[in-house]
Amino acid sequence: MKIAVIGTGYVGLVTGTCLAESGNDVVCVDNNAQKVATLNAGGIPIYEPGLEELVKKNHRDGRLTFTTDLAKAVRAARIVFIAVGTPQSDEGDADLTAVWAVSNAIGDALRDVPPGPPGSRIVIVKSTVPVGTNRGVAERLNAKGAGHVDTASNPEFLKEGAAINDFMKPDRVVVGVRRPEVAEVLRELYNPFLRTERPFIVMSPESSEMTKYAANAMLATKISFINEMANLCDRVGADINDVRKGMGHDQRIGFQFLFPGPGYGGSCFPKDVQAIIAMGRHTNLPLKLMESVDLVNDDQKQVLGQKIRFHFQNDVKGKTFAIWGLAFKPQTDDIREAPALVLIDELLAAGAKLRVHDPEATANVRAIYGDKLTYCDGPYGAVEGADALVIVTEWKTFQNPDFEMMKKLLTTPLIFDGRNIYDTKVMQNLGYTYYAIGRGKKAY
Ligand code: UDX
Repeated sequence: MKIAVIGTGYVGLVTGTCLAESGNDVVCVDNNAQKVATLNAGGIPIYEPGLEELVKKNHRDGRLTFTTDLAKAVRAARIVFIAVGTPQSDEGDADLTAVWAVSNAIGDALRDVPPGPPGSRIVIVKSTVPVGTNRGVAERLNAKGAGHVDTASNPEFLKEGAAINDFMKPDRVVVGVRRPEVAEVLRELYNPFLRTERPFIVMSPESSEMTKYAANAMLATKISFINEMANLCDRVGADINDVRKGMGHDQRIGFQFLFPGPGYGGSCFPKDVQAIIAMGRHTNLPLKLMESVDLVNDDQKQVLGQKIRFHFQNDVKGKTFAIWGLAFKPQTDDIREAPALVLIDELLAAGAKLRVHDPEATANVRAIYGDKLTYCDGPYGAVEGADALVIVTEWKTFQNPDFEMMKKLLTTPLIFDGRNIYDTKVMQNLGYTYYAIGRGKKAY
């Protein structure tokens, strides 16, 4: 099928590339000429495992091209994906400026094309958008004289760092349509990724838009829930690792997304939780649970700082901390809403010196903090001469370090672990003072 993807951000680029990989003819459109030039030269603007190779391969084979010419790409396409950003507005709503601008441009481009049978041209909203946006897109197309074009909602459920796999092997594909013919075209498009056991779920655009928010709200709730339980474990002498296992075997609860940590970050959960709260506000329904999820998460981002303050009796002035992990999670260079930034701000304000290391996100952090931090290429370099190590993100390279060597590099064997990646007994036997999250004691 001929496809145009508008927006070559994270979602658009992954979507376009994976659809090209399955044999479609894909044009990715962006109004940033620099970005388009980079992509056409074989570079990619983000770090995502496996993406660069796939972009290059499909670009070389001619199935994936990049352009700034929206009208031409849209006119040639049977399917147009809108995958532009929906950032958070000052009120917490999703800012739909880009979605509306693109809808109008698509309407202009398609005004003169002759109408075909149902499903012959479909504009699909992939961006995460509040309920009612699909209807708004259809209205804009109509106002531009392109009312014969079908619209659909098709939210993405991609995890950064695993996006290619998530697209190629989705747990499910959700589509929101007004006409069954449109669903059939989308089923055909997604068929290579579905196999028999992967559900393709058809619903209204409103339900589809809501599904995305409800799914992310549930996942964020699980994290705030387990973080709250972990904090209680710290106070009552229970170990959240055991509690989590004991809970997870109940199949109604499960094991996933119940890892306590320094709070969720990234481009989705914080923004989507705010947006769903805003949707409630607009309909006079205060979403008390979601508001709490958000508050708990804000507090959780302070937890590592609290433990550090407790240990050093509120005086970290002149102390040096090694920080491992700056990205909001492993396998990405993304630092949006990352808990590490909250910790860095707090420690800098308290007069501490910081030696930071992250396998991918250092450049993004340097762009914010400049020479306020010492950037280290490797984990051991960061630890050298530090008074304590703080782990904020659980990159695999941090899982099995040489603890004996680290003891020599640190001034004191002291670790604050925000991701519970080490065994408390092992750390004790090695002679470390070990703070973790919800392990039943303030420290081991
Ligand atoms: C998320 C959703 O998973 C995805 O379906 C949606 O499309 C976009 O938002 P992403 O933001 O890439 O994806 O990250 P995810 O892996 O879900 O993690 C989000 C945050 O939650 C990270 O900060 C992570 O560290 C934290 N987290 C996750 C926990 O603290 N504990 C957990 O058990 C799981």
